[in-house]
Amino acid sequence: MIEPTLARARILLIVGGGVAAYKALDLVRRLRERGASVRVAMTAAAREFVTPLSFEALSGQPVRFDLFALTEDSGMGHIEFSREADLVVVAPATANLLARMAQGLADDLATTTLLATDKRALLAPAMNLRMWLHPATQRNVATLRGDGALFVGPDDGEMACGEYGPGRMAEPLAIVAAIERALQEPTAIPLPPGVGARPGKAQTSGVLAGRRVVVTSGPTQEPIDPVRYLGNRSSGRQGHAIAAAARAAGAETILVSGPTGLPDPPDVAVVRIETALEMQAAVRAALPADIFIAAAAVADWRVDRASEQKLKKRGAGAPTLTLTENPDILAEVATLRKGRPSLVIGFAAETENLVDNARRKLARKGCDLIVANSVAAKDGGFGGPDNQATIVSHDGVEAWPRMAKTELASALIALAAKRLEKGR
Ligand code: C5P
Repeated sequence: MIEPTLARARILLIVGGGVAAYKALDLVRRLRERGASVRVAMTAAAREFVTPLSFEALSGQPVRFDLFALTEDSGMGHIEFSREADLVVVAPATANLLARMAQGLADDLATTTLLATDKRALLAPAMNLRMWLHPATQRNVATLRGDGALFVGPDDGEMACGEYGPGRMAEPLAIVAAIERALQEPTAIPLPPGVGARPGKAQTSGVLAGRRVVVTSGPTQEPIDPVRYLGNRSSGRQGHAIAAAARAAGAETILVSGPTGLPDPPDVAVVRIETALEMQAAVRAALPADIFIAAAAVADWRVDRASEQKLKKRGAGAPTLTLTENPDILAEVATLRKGRPSLVIGFAAETENLVDNARRKLARKGCDLIVANSVAAKDGGFGGPDNQATIVSHDGVEAWPRMAKTELASALIALAAKRLEKGR
């Protein structure tokens, strides 16, 4: 049966340097089979046992091992890297890695990530039995348990070195079960009261200081059954960039986002949702706001009654999916009688008749401004770093040059701030 806890879980797997590293490959495979996404970081010693390429092939994501190359590579520092997971798993957790963790060392990507993470760690120790039974290792294990780390294994068994006893890494399926158990509980490690980021709070400077902005971003995923969904190609890059720009302009910013691979924009309150109905509820909860920007690619339809069990091929032909229309969140917000944001901005992703369709959308949805962009394949489509937008409002049409999505986000926020000042 498909376990709902793992179906969309984001696991960060840290692979230590031990013979059991090859078993971590199977662990990745098992996790992905159950619908989890897995990012892998390897210690230098782990790379002596298994190649990063093997983990890359199985996880479908680049493998990280260099603390300093990380930022250049992926635009993501070790802080973001450690925080976008729901759970950190260390397998195999070698004696050396346990000792470094217990000491709070941060001398490579693995230990820095483990120190910087805001999620719990599940450790699967693997080592020679004398190393495991050594008082120093047992001291480190007790320290780590006291710090909130979870353990799975080690098992008793024959060691690679020929001895028999405790020290074998738990089998991948036992680690999967321990991950499922860990995910049933909250995995975030709370900070002491009064410290940490205050996400989304308004600043006293910037063109949107004292204002509140709600942005939707990314796709929605409408379940067919526990493992399949209807979705679209939205990357969320434009919406996330807009939330970051609103925040940089001083606004208290709430980002309601569908599933994306993007890190949270700094200091923005992020509400993660999957379906259009969840997005609608999250937007309602986030209002009131001065500005609402709907940059999400909301699925137009959802499956009428998603199956609770995985649909099986039964030789009786393909199943028929009955679709129901999703609520139009932009239109709902734009036509609110009470508490309508002063400025409501929508997007129009079109493959043809850009301006005409955008004009019609402006009227139909009741919003103040439409950012129209072509998603025709010849124009680059979804997902790229650039965007070419045409701004359609009741004042007229303005075609902006092609620019980076981050630049477009800043320009749109500057325009929104100006309109807000003028009263739309
Ligand atoms: O109607 P269409 O999907 O082309 O409109 C696009 C605009 O409407 C975008 O701003 C999108 O975020 C918003 N939208 C919405 N809820 C929907 C469909 C679209 O908020 N169900």
